[in-house]
Amino acid sequence: MRKFFKWTGLTVLFLIVALVVIVWALQYKTYDAEYPNVRASSDSAVIERGRYIVTSLGHCADCHAPENAYEDVMAGREVSLHGGRVFKLPLGTVQAPNITNDPTGIGDWKDEEIARSLRHGVGKDGRALFAFMPFQDMTDDDLTAVISYLRTTKPVKNEITVRKLNPMGYFVNAFFIKPVGPAAPPQKYIAADTMVEYGQYLANSVSNCKGCHTNRDLKTGAFLGAAYAGGFHMESVTEPQKWEVVTPNLTPDPETGHITNWNEQKFIERFRQGKVISHSTMPWGPFKRMSDLELKAIYKYLKTLKPEKNDPGPMVRELK
Ligand code: HEC
Ligand code: HEC
Repeated sequence: MRKFFKWTGLTVLFLIVALVVIVWALQYKTYDAEYPNVRASSDSAVIERGRYIVTSLGHCADCHAPENAYEDVMAGREVSLHGGRVFKLPLGTVQAPNITNDPTGIGDWKDEEIARSLRHGVGKDGRALFAFMPFQDMTDDDLTAVISYLRTTKPVKNEITVRKLNPMGYFVNAFFIKPVGPAAPPQKYIAADTMVEYGQYLANSVSNCKGCHTNRDLKTGAFLGAAYAGGFHMESVTEPQKWEVVTPNLTPDPETGHITNWNEQKFIERFRQGKVISHSTMPWGPFKRMSDLELKAIYKYLKTLKPEKNDPGPMVRELK
């Protein structure tokens, strides 16, 4: 009997050690992905488009600007992107890195390396990125614009340790995090007009409406619910321990759709108003600067969604 326990004990110990070694080794797993054929441009119109995406449509500042710049971000002002928000997740903490044109940011990176991170979810060092950013299907022209703008930013020296994972984080990272790449062959260009196609492009691949207005698994970033049916819980940006926000259903369901009875004008006016619920994670500041054209296109797209019956309840709640 004693011998039996000794051997099972040793086997269990062996398995634990093996698991730890495998999990540790997999932290260094790298992936291959092609480098998009994208180069920064010094054309002022291209840089302007990039500035608009970074400061408004793609709200990079909402994550990559330091936390003490939050008021400026919410006011829709242009801020330095030298390392930003700290996300406290079940996996540990992840901080948005410095993306200014400094060696501690992206100063030393090739344009194609930045483009590959954003399009294929494979970091400069080959590791799978966590799915914070929805830009995989961004057009070549818009990627070019974003990178061209980043090249004009003032270099700010700020070394950041992006990931501080806990044991669960190491485990999930080892087995569940894979690079998220484009859903379709990347397009070179999309016409910026009030058509549904442009609205769909913005909502899914630039402004991340889908990423927040769909329920997700906070551990892996995987989508759980019907697209745009809401119900994604996130901790408050002002009092994370005490409050949470929950995204409303944006599909045109007659009973549970949050904007089913809104018209285009009300939709645009709501965006011009900016943040109302202080706890909200929605980047209202950057979005406030969106032009009517973009908002019309997004509104039109949301109206074409399949109605999904889902009532996520109040948008802000106190945690018990
Ligand atoms: C919702 C928050 C969020 C938004 C919005 C966001 N980022 Fe990020 N970004 C992150 C986080 C977090 C990481 C680190 C991910 C990781 O290492 O797994 C990151 C990483 C990066 C990286 C480094 C990738 C690498 O290879 O290590 C670049 C470059 C970048 N972001 C650029 C951008 C640009 C440009 C935009 C806007 C067009 C943007 N980000 C918008 C959160 C965000
Ligand atoms: C980072 C997460 C996030 C992103 C990205 C996001 N939202 Fe939201 N959204 C929320 C949360 C949380 C709420 C509820 C709190 C609030 O109203 O601010 C919300 C609320 C809303 C509301 C209801 C506002 C009201 O006052 O009734 C609308 C409409 C909306 N979002 C549309 C959009 C659209 C369109 C996009 C893309 C352009 C988008 N959201 C992107 C998180 C997000």
